[in-house]
Amino acid sequence: MGKLAITGGKPVRRKPFSPWPIFTPRERQGLFKVLKSRNWGGYPFPNKIAHAFAQKFAKFHGARYGLAVANGTIAIEIALAAAGIKPGDEVIVPAYTWEGTVGPILLLNAVPVFVDIDPATYCLDAKLIEKALTPKTRAILPVHLAMRFADMDEICRIARARNLLVIEDCAHAHGGKWRAKGAGASGDLGCFSFQSSKLMTAGEGGAVITSNLEFYERAQSYMNCGRASLTDEYKHRIIGFNYRVTELQAALLEAQLDRLPKQAKVRQANMEHFEKRLRGTPGLGFLERDPRNTRVAAYQYVFKYSPEHFGGIPRAAFLGALQMEGIPCDGLFYEPVYKSALFPVNANDWPALSWGRPQPLDLKSLYHCPVSERAAYEESVWLPHHIFLGGRKDAEDIADAVLKICENIEELRGLKHPAIEVKAMSRAERPRVEKRQW
Ligand SMILES: Cc1ncc(COP(=O)(O)O)c(C=O)c1O
Repeated sequence: MGKLAITGGKPVRRKPFSPWPIFTPRERQGLFKVLKSRNWGGYPFPNKIAHAFAQKFAKFHGARYGLAVANGTIAIEIALAAAGIKPGDEVIVPAYTWEGTVGPILLLNAVPVFVDIDPATYCLDAKLIEKALTPKTRAILPVHLAMRFADMDEICRIARARNLLVIEDCAHAHGGKWRAKGAGASGDLGCFSFQSSKLMTAGEGGAVITSNLEFYERAQSYMNCGRASLTDEYKHRIIGFNYRVTELQAALLEAQLDRLPKQAKVRQANMEHFEKRLRGTPGLGFLERDPRNTRVAAYQYVFKYSPEHFGGIPRAAFLGALQMEGIPCDGLFYEPVYKSALFPVNANDWPALSWGRPQPLDLKSLYHCPVSERAAYEESVWLPHHIFLGGRKDAEDIADAVLKICENIEELRGLKHPAIEVKAMSRAERPRVEKRQW
């Protein structure tokens, strides 16, 4: 029997962390009001609560207009369509992101072009964008993740110089700020998710924000079955779909937005304390804080585990041990999309991958993004935000568990354990064996 819980020792933590999502009588009253009104859906568009919430959400981030939509993947599709992305256009995306950032590009028959991430932030490396531009490039789609922002100064500079559009994926960045501007407001459009794990949630849901009236009008028509927008100044007539959100979701989101700033403070204070305890631990690394990121959106806390420092003991063993100490965690949170089991792309299914090219683009073999691959398969450790929503003692427990494993790492050498197997499993397979977190 060892000291670590995974080898038979006593776990650092038995008590559950803060539940997520959180609700109060505010949500209950909001839902009941919608039920009583018998006005539950998104039609007639824009429905009352959804419209009021979307405008408030947009203003909160410093944009003029907002739309509440069915989910975050659809938010990206709507933003791309609103920006006028056409079949065959190329869109620059970070290789290291959720597959839902990339799928909508293919869905519109455009072409994703993968660019590696910056090892200091795990976000799109702006220094590598220019090399990836071609005459077909129409947009850059940075993703703000790991409590960081992509370098929006450099991305907007490149976009202005080349007449490109910038669409920000802010699924992890509710309330975050770059140079005092809200997430999604530095670029042309911003997209958010309200899926269960996110900083604000209605179970599912999403939002698109913009300060450009033409994009706002086209987005409205696209998500509302092609109907004219409220203002209809640009008279766009396009084929659209039903991507509306329900009034029930919007009622939940109103309450969640009001609660966000207070929760953000708690989470960030606990995360800072956790990081202070861990800094200086040999074998652990931390992402850099950019002072231009003037307000942090504390979604998943991410740090780096160095297998080389720990004599080749793989990250999956570290994570399995951490889970057994009572700390929810993940490593394969994202993969480079081009290598991911959730991205079995076949050029025959997406005509734009062949147009005007001697050979169809084989997205799975075309790319090698070393920083993304190292982050995904070797070093990144992702901790969910809700475990930092409690008191200081929770942050202490998380730090104690990490340090305990670092001190007793040799117990993991060659160890086989179901908790380790799950942490090494592809995300396509894992839901069959893993307990639901949200
Ligand atoms: C970075 C990123 N982009 C897009 C999405 C898609 O959002 P949704 O799950 O609401 O469709 C997510 C959420 O899972 C995400 O994390």
